[in-house]
Amino acid sequence: MKTYEHISLKAYNTFGIDASARRMVVLEPGDEPASLPREAPWLVLGGGSNMVFTRDYDGTVVRLDTVREVSVRADGAEVLVTAWGGMVMDELVEWTLEQGCYGLENLTAIPGTVGASVVQNVGAYGVEAKDVVEGVEVYDLQEGRRCLFSNADCRFAYRDSMFKHHPGRFLVLRVCYRLRREFVANLSYKALEGLPHATAAELRQAIADLRWGKLPRPEEHGSAGSFFKNPVVEEPVYQHLRTMHPDMPEAHRSEEGYKLSAGWLIDRAGWKGRTMGAAGVWPRNALVLYNASACTGSEVLALARAIQQDVDDKFNVRLEPEAIII
Ligand code: EPU
Repeated sequence: MKTYEHISLKAYNTFGIDASARRMVVLEPGDEPASLPREAPWLVLGGGSNMVFTRDYDGTVVRLDTVREVSVRADGAEVLVTAWGGMVMDELVEWTLEQGCYGLENLTAIPGTVGASVVQNVGAYGVEAKDVVEGVEVYDLQEGRRCLFSNADCRFAYRDSMFKHHPGRFLVLRVCYRLRREFVANLSYKALEGLPHATAAELRQAIADLRWGKLPRPEEHGSAGSFFKNPVVEEPVYQHLRTMHPDMPEAHRSEEGYKLSAGWLIDRAGWKGRTMGAAGVWPRNALVLYNASACTGSEVLALARAIQQDVDDKFNVRLEPEAIII
């Protein structure tokens, strides 16, 4: 276990915001979490790809080292792949494909760690973490003990899980995924429909190309991917909006309601490509706020609030951030 005092978090959040933490503790797979410092507050940080620091953090940031620790166990036609929570998600996707284990390929190029992907129930191009997670090993920082949670225990929902409702409490040590030996391409995302004969590697490449066409390259501009969640509304609200705006993309219908495209709402409200201070709205995707030039978290927040207000005024729809604001 490594401990750092008064450390800059700039390299630990993908927005590249220069906040600092009173202390950072980095846990490796062989370390005993029971020896973590006991005094709260804690902030569990994955790849920092979904966080906006608007201030310094006066507490302990807990991170898992990003080493690769992964094992595979056969289970009939399926395989159980267990990965260390600190591992970079995209490295795990690549590794599983090399091993001939399929199911994670649509999550290609998602930034962040394995542990954070569960907390956030990450999703892209037709697959969400909840579709492939078998169970999770966590350390409960509050109770000081290890626990195993099943998929159902995690209470996954759209960009949500039980862990998100207990910030700073659970450290996701390992995630077990149920994957397949046989590759069946998931082409449910419209732009992938034309790839019926793709191999897993070709699908991975197509998804990476799609993603990088819409999101800033992390080495060029900091961002947190989609900044807002797609808002879920009831049918009458959706029907009214469709009548008023016939060019609005069709909503995705689920048990929760009608999921609108936040990107379209923000784009239509005229924000695409605009900047406010040193924070901006990505010119190729209005759902993405980015660091235009050494921005602060407060600048990102001010831009986000202005967008929320404007979308509310124009469409009477409230956008909620997907990113966690500290
Ligand atoms: N759109 C616009 N203008 C924009 C952006 C989008 O009109 O500036 C329209 C698109 O044309 C499309 C619709 O909005 O009709 C939806 O866009 P897209 O398919 O790109 O997906 P999204 O809803 O914007 C979600 C996830 C992404 C994920 C993609 C693909 C959320 C908040 N975001 O984006 O996840 O990669 O679907 O599955 O659910 C992330 O969470 O960080 C993330 C990148």
